[in-house]
Amino acid sequence: MHHFHYRAGELHAEDVPVRILAERYGTPLYVYSYQTLRRHFQAYETAFDGYPHVTCFAVKANSNSAILRLFAKMGGGADIVSGGELFVALKAGIPSQKIVYAGVGKTDDEIAFALRSKILMFNVESENELREIDKVARRMQTKAPIALRINPDIDPGTHPYITTGMKKHKFGIPIEMALEYYRLAAKLGNVFVVGVHTHIGSQITTVSPFVDALERVLRLIDDLAARGVSLRYLDVGGGLGITYQNEVPPDPQDLAKGLMPLLKGRNLTLITEPGRSIVGNAGILVTRSLYIKKGVDKKFLIVDAGMNDLIRPSLYDAYHNIFPVVKRKRKKAVYDVVGPICESGDFLARGREMPIVRQGEYLAVMSAGAYGFSMSSNYNSRPRAAEVLVKGEKHFLIRERETYDDLVRYDRIPPFLR
Ligand code: LLP
Repeated sequence: MHHFHYRAGELHAEDVPVRILAERYGTPLYVYSYQTLRRHFQAYETAFDGYPHVTCFAVKANSNSAILRLFAKMGGGADIVSGGELFVALKAGIPSQKIVYAGVGKTDDEIAFALRSKILMFNVESENELREIDKVARRMQTKAPIALRINPDIDPGTHPYITTGMKKHKFGIPIEMALEYYRLAAKLGNVFVVGVHTHIGSQITTVSPFVDALERVLRLIDDLAARGVSLRYLDVGGGLGITYQNEVPPDPQDLAKGLMPLLKGRNLTLITEPGRSIVGNAGILVTRSLYIKKGVDKKFLIVDAGMNDLIRPSLYDAYHNIFPVVKRKRKKAVYDVVGPICESGDFLARGREMPIVRQGEYLAVMSAGAYGFSMSSNYNSRPRAAEVLVKGEKHFLIRERETYDDLVRYDRIPPFLR
């Protein structure tokens, strides 16, 4: 459910015609709906209401400060994977005691930053990382709260690039080795065990893999309890899918229905780390058609947004609906919708049947709120897009469009070339 709808033939973001936003702020432009962001975040809060829980938004999905601030105000925490994400989360006002830190390659500096910030816990991904966190904490004369990220060896049936919890993946500690690593953690002087973490993948469209993973992790929790180790936090990761095309993914309520019966009577605080399911359908990418080009057996619709703005189609062959911002009665045509980047892989859609597009008109690339701007780059020296938040009839610039000066801001010419 989102708040991008046609009214009198014009696509609106809440109460604002998207055309007005494109004219005012230029394109390519990311547009987010405040009501949608709120509703999707609140859905997690409501679903797990009555059970101790923290909703830690996965910052990687969208790290805009205004969006993070909104979740902070709604009581949200953050799931982070870098020192940079810790910085932006704290700046946005997310309390450090609601921040969990995953990722296979934490550096000493990042670990120290997280320790100084007093985050809720490190989700540790390997033995050597565990030892490193202990070492850094010892140097800082403190103790690090840790959870082990367990790889439960579950296939969630999603795209291979975004499946994370199988044996062949770099993530987490194989569940068979978990007890051994918890034993090791108990022996180290500067870490203390507070939880367990698991994350099986992203864009998952059924509840059963989450339930399977939880059952495995609960068995581990029981084994640990039998050995005198009691855990406080159970972090079940993110991963709920969204509708890009015709998927019918479960919502947070369905997830809760699957998980809660297993958690009854357990003295745990549940952590969820949703990213895509909160922001994905709360954002669109608005682009302008530049040229229609006839190939020998294809029609190319060349638009002003490229793979540097939205890389998901190029990287995962991901499907995003593309709609005209202003509807008109017209025939259909089949296009490859491509960007201006000098790569054959620069496309937003291929072989897409859609209403005939005129040169210069605006189009909306739907479901672009997650892993859209956050994965964008300056490739081909293209300034990154602006971002706008719409609330009712009002709209707010939440990130300025980059300028040409921004492109060279960090370059330095050595003296011998001056
Ligand atoms: N927690 C951890 C530890 C994660 O690795 C991820 C995503 C999440 C939470 C959030 O998962 P979500 O609720 O968004 O599914 N760039 C890809 C998605 C990569 C997901 C990586 N991990 C895409 O555009 O589809």
